[in-house]
Parts: sequence; structure tokens; C-alpha cells
Amino acid sequence: MKVTAIANSNIALVKYWGKRDEKLILPNNSNISVAYDKLNTITTVDFNPDYSKDVFILDGNEITEGSVLKKTIEHLNIIRQRANIQTKAKIASKNNFPTAAGLASSASGFSALAFAGSKAAGLNLDQKELSILSRLSGSGSASRSLIGGFAEWMKGEKADGSDSYAVQIAKPEHWPEFRIIVAIVSETKKKVSSTDGMNLTMKTCPLYQGWLDTIEQDLKNVRKGIAEKNLTLVGSTAESNCLKMHALMITTQPSLIYWTPATLEIIHAVLDWREKGLESYFTIDAGPQVKILCLEKDAQEINDKLRLLQGIKKTILCGVGGEAKLSKNHLF
Ligand code: DP6
Repeated sequence: MKVTAIANSNIALVKYWGKRDEKLILPNNSNISVAYDKLNTITTVDFNPDYSKDVFILDGNEITEGSVLKKTIEHLNIIRQRANIQTKAKIASKNNFPTAAGLASSASGFSALAFAGSKAAGLNLDQKELSILSRLSGSGSASRSLIGGFAEWMKGEKADGSDSYAVQIAKPEHWPEFRIIVAIVSETKKKVSSTDGMNLTMKTCPLYQGWLDTIEQDLKNVRKGIAEKNLTLVGSTAESNCLKMHALMITTQPSLIYWTPATLEIIHAVLDWREKGLESYFTIDAGPQVKILCLEKDAQEINDKLRLLQGIKKTILCGVGGEAKLSKNHLF
């Protein structure tokens, strides 16, 4: 059967950095994200006895080696095992933004794959099961993309991970004025993946305990801020949580410095605008791109100002996106 799913990428407001179980992809700390309404992955999966091997086409090119192919096939194997089938599959996947430039293409990609793949294999999973399956693909943040809106991925306590999945804490309609401006400063692939980076941090970073000790307060603030639609609380907490994560990265050995001069240029600009009364906050994942959190009333002005900065290649102005969905528009 051929099935197509679309999932939105997401940006963490309270970050996931470090695993309590590497194989099951269980996080050391709960984390909260917001989905973008304009950055997504569309994936078609077709299990067909005519295929003699799994074929994976990403953005129009067949992928024949590397970790993304390996993770994709491992994910199909989990689905095949659950569905009790051996059939090979063709998968085509398309991102509407640069892959692996730190815009969480793995999050939207693997949740679209989990959704389309499980349906195509004849499984009928509910949202909780799909969020768990998305995480098992090898990208933890995919568990949040599946859910969309403002989502919390609960770290859970159980060794088998059955209580570690994402839930929606607010729908996109709850806060329609919330905006995320993605500022792209580089489209090159990052050198150290999040998976490798977080493992190195856990092994070598002297500040990691401080991260764990302060995460509950960050989670509380962001949950409260979302419930109250309080940009000041959500933004200031997200910004300081992001800086804390980058402090971990920088003090990991060997150090992980994902920022470029353009990243810093935007950070300083946001701080400056805020001082002058234009309220916005920045957050950055394991890459150089900066995401700016603000409200609709200021979004256009901030976007225009961003475009005047030297290091900016492109900006994408997004609202809050929803959960992953099935589509009838197959890619092949
Ligand atoms: C910095 O979900 O890509 O973006 O589970 O190892 O594949 P793996 O990592 P991934 O890591 C995301 C890290 C982050 C923060 C976040 O999105 O919460």
C-alpha cells in the first residue's frame, strides 16, 4: 500500500540535550517545542512485493549510503517487524527547506516516515504510539513533530520508554499571534550531528549537572508562559535555555561551536532591538541558524530589519504549525 504523510519541523523552546537510553532514544530531560507552519517534510512510502530492496529518494536524489539511509532502513525494519511483513519499500521524501542545516529536517522527516510507513504497512497506530515510533526512528525530536502545536516530549521514567512520548500542550489556535522567524545564515551541513554532540557533552562536559538541575524551572516557566500567552516569559526562558545548552556545547571536549559570526550578529541585533522596545527573543539549535520568537504585530518589522543584516541569506516567517497529517498527493 502507498501512503503519504506531511509533518512540520519544530524548534525547541526548552531543549533536549542528552539521552538516558541511546538505543531507545530516551531523553535525560523533558523538553518543549513549537511546530513551524511553513517548514515541512512530505514522505511517501510504498511497500510492494515487486521491490527487491529498499529504495530511498531524498529531495529527488537516490540515497545509497550514509547514516540517514541506515536510520531509514532501521526504521522500516521496526515497522516491518510490528506489521509482521518482509516486503521491501520505496520511500520518497521532500523537505521544503535546506536539509541538515540545523532546521530539524530529521524531526519532520522521521515523523512523516513513521506515520506514512506504519500506515502503508497496515498498522493503525494512535498518536501516542506514533510519537513513540517517531522517536525510535533515531531522532528524538521527531516525537514532537508528529504532535505539532506546542508539544512537550516527556522524558518518562520507565526503562522500556513506554511513558516517553510527546503530548500537545496547546493547539496552534491557542496562540495565533505567536511567530517564529527563521534566519538562515548558512546552508552547509553541520560537522557534528546532534546525536554525536549530545553524547560527547554527557561524557566530557563539566557543566552538565547544572543543566539537569535547572531544567524543571525552565519547563515550568515555558508551560506557564504558553498557557498565559506571555511572550516575555516564554521568550526569555527559551533564550536563556538556549544559551545554557550552547554553554554545554562550547565546554564539551572537543568543543562544539555551532555559531558563525552571522549567528552572533543576529544575537546582538535582537538584544539591541529589545533594549529599544521591539520585543523578540532568539533561540538556536545545533547549527548556525537563528530563530527569532516574537508576536505578529512586530514580525514584519523584525523580518525587515533582519534582512538588512550582512550575514543573512534568507528569512522565513512562520506561525505555529499543527500535527502530522496524511495526504493524497503521493510523491510517486
Ligand atoms: C539541539 O532529535 O536531532 O535540536 O535524537 O540524537 O537524533 P537525536 O537528536 P535530535 O536532537 C535535537 C537537539 C536540539 C534540541 C531539540 O530539538 O530539542
